Amino acid sequence: MDYDSNSWIWEGVYNHPHVLGGLMVTAALLGLSTSYFGGMTNSWSNLGIFPKKRSGKRRVRVYMDGCFDLMHYGHANALRQAKALGDELVVGLVSDEEILANKGPPVLSMEERLTLVSGLKWVDEVITDAPYAITEEFLNRLFYEYNIDYVIHGDDPCLLPDGTDAYAAAKKAGRYKQIKRTEGVSSTDIVGRIMSSLKDKKAREDLDGTDAKPQEESKPKVSHLSQFLPTSRRIVQFSNGKGPGPDARIVYIDGAFDLFHAGHVEILKKARQLGDFLLVGIHSDETVSSQRGNHYPIMHLHERSLSVLACGYVDEVIIGAPWEITKDMITTFNISAVVHGTVAEKSLYSERDPYEVPKSMGIFHLLESPKDITTTSVAQRIMANHEAYVKRNAKKAQSEKRYYEEKTYVTGD
Ligand SMILES: *[C@@H]1O[C@H](CO)[C@@H](O)[C@H](O)[C@H]1NC(C)=O
Repeated sequence: MDYDSNSWIWEGVYNHPHVLGGLMVTAALLGLSTSYFGGMTNSWSNLGIFPKKRSGKRRVRVYMDGCFDLMHYGHANALRQAKALGDELVVGLVSDEEILANKGPPVLSMEERLTLVSGLKWVDEVITDAPYAITEEFLNRLFYEYNIDYVIHGDDPCLLPDGTDAYAAAKKAGRYKQIKRTEGVSSTDIVGRIMSSLKDKKAREDLDGTDAKPQEESKPKVSHLSQFLPTSRRIVQFSNGKGPGPDARIVYIDGAFDLFHAGHVEILKKARQLGDFLLVGIHSDETVSSQRGNHYPIMHLHERSLSVLACGYVDEVIIGAPWEITKDMITTFNISAVVHGTVAEKSLYSERDPYEVPKSMGIFHLLESPKDITTTSVAQRIMANHEAYVKRNAKKAQSEKRYYEEKTYVTGD
């Protein structure tokens, strides 16, 4: 198996027709980033998201790389596991030029990929010029320039074009650690769902010239259904496990957060800055379908919840939030501010303003969305790139198929 066909965890768009996770697709540079091309440093501990680690002892720095072109919660889970092997996680993002040279044009630009990756709560630093295939020269840079202690990779073999092990040098130096691949996740499946969702929508529009009311439509197609099996343990792993402190100002934002993208990361960041604790309400699949049509959501409730939970600006989520914000809800969660972005997909069917109550209480804030990007625009971009993906990943699909044919019980995180 060659390098490309085994780098499933990063770009794997054509993997295997199963499973999936919160896709993260995006557009924009996280405001946190200080020195963009020199890499960036996050400060989640300053936000109070993670306790500061013991000082004195030298901190263990671990490194994991990837293209992160169609990012979903499986990638986030890999980085979560990598982080657990050290104190600081440095992520190597493969440059646009390297992706172009090795696989064809990326769907997401470096800025977009950087926004998503650096928004993850497990990521401390990002290097933005990682090579597509790790070289001995680059390994030396990691060890001596970036003070990396261990290079982390998934448990699939990773071979260079000449057939040698890409991580041989790191292994020889005793600086290599392995993590389990994340089951139940594939970009292939997500792309497939986007395709069939948009096709359904178009077929309906061709039929009656309009977007039909959801109640007149048939049930969502089976092809939209996820193979992801959400477990309570995974949700716990992604959670902060902390409630608001005393006197905390609690900010509430709600939405579908479908195909989690950079626009989401940026509005969550802005919302978090308005208070001390950000509570995110994630609309149920039924709510999203009833407001936007049966071809949505593309990602299911638990997948969308994991994507939002992986974002460092988020403190807590409501898994299946109501469409209308009630007085009771505001009281129950002691919500001080309810926010909504200026760029959001409008409801097709609801006349009532879901923010009537918080507006009447004077706690509603409309936030200027930093980026003009929506789930629909992301889906369209993926569609436009679909042919390239099919070609690019045909080989990978085969090796993935083999993997699933031979697979047995999978242990680990
Ligand atoms: C509710 O939130 C306010 C801040 O908006 C805070 O001062 C107050 O202590 C909170 N109430 C409780 C019971 O935590």
